[in-house]
Amino acid sequence: MSEKLALVTGASRGIGRACAIELAKCGYDIIVNYAGNSEAAAKTVEDIKALGVEAEAYKFDVSNSKDVNENVARIVEKYGRIDILINNAGITRDDLFIRMDEEKWNAVINTNLNSAFYVAKPVVKVMMKQRSGAIVNMASVVGVYGNIGQANYSAAKAGLIGFTKSLAKELGSRNIRVNAVAPGFIATDMTKDLKNTDEYLKLISLRKMGTPEDIAAAVKFLAVDTSYVTGQVLEVDGGLVI
Ligand code: NAI
Repeated sequence: MSEKLALVTGASRGIGRACAIELAKCGYDIIVNYAGNSEAAAKTVEDIKALGVEAEAYKFDVSNSKDVNENVARIVEKYGRIDILINNAGITRDDLFIRMDEEKWNAVINTNLNSAFYVAKPVVKVMMKQRSGAIVNMASVVGVYGNIGQANYSAAKAGLIGFTKSLAKELGSRNIRVNAVAPGFIATDMTKDLKNTDEYLKLISLRKMGTPEDIAAAVKFLAVDTSYVTGQVLEVDGGLVI
């Protein structure tokens, strides 16, 4: 077991998986949170262990505070510390506002925004005792600029950005840094069914979608490489918005 532990939510695939692997390469033991796909989570754990650090999968629903509290308590009991938290888990339930029902609104707010509150609460207590820690919240460019069909998602991501800045101000004196990454279009399961991809590509200065590894590099910068950046939102979007 190493001296350093990172908890990554939604780490069985996509951006979360890439972040978990990147942090493992930096020598962190990794807690791989996942919602349902045990096989994918086990594969992530296996790939991380191959890098020479410890990894363990914890199945819990980040939108359920009881589930979160029970599992974070188990993690803290076993490992005694949490150095990095990546609040990555997220979903989309897109629809035009006029058609958006409460179920779609609540599902996205609960999974993408309330989850960050639920997970950060017990984790920050541990970080405060350690007098050190880094949190990175996975926002989105649409949380800054808005997007048609994503009133729920952009509200949740904008909320995460406000949450990031407030926590950074509250926790800086305890040597806990809190930042956000705002990805643009990244090739993952979340975006695989997007229509009119060519139209989106025309809007991106670099004319290509990003990879989960592009986001993981930014997460590593904020969580590991720097010690004097807090309260920031790093847009990683290939120049989608300049
Ligand atoms: P993905 O759909 O491939 O992965 C999402 C992960 O979150 C999965 O591992 C899923 O199991 C997990 N998850 C969902 N609900 C959960 C719950 N209730 N409890 C625990 N885990 C849960 O999507 P992707 O693209 O990897 O997204 C990761 C994050 O990046 C999300 O927060 C997303 O909003 C954000 N993002 C993605 C962009 C993209 O273009 N792919 C752009 C901007 C932000």
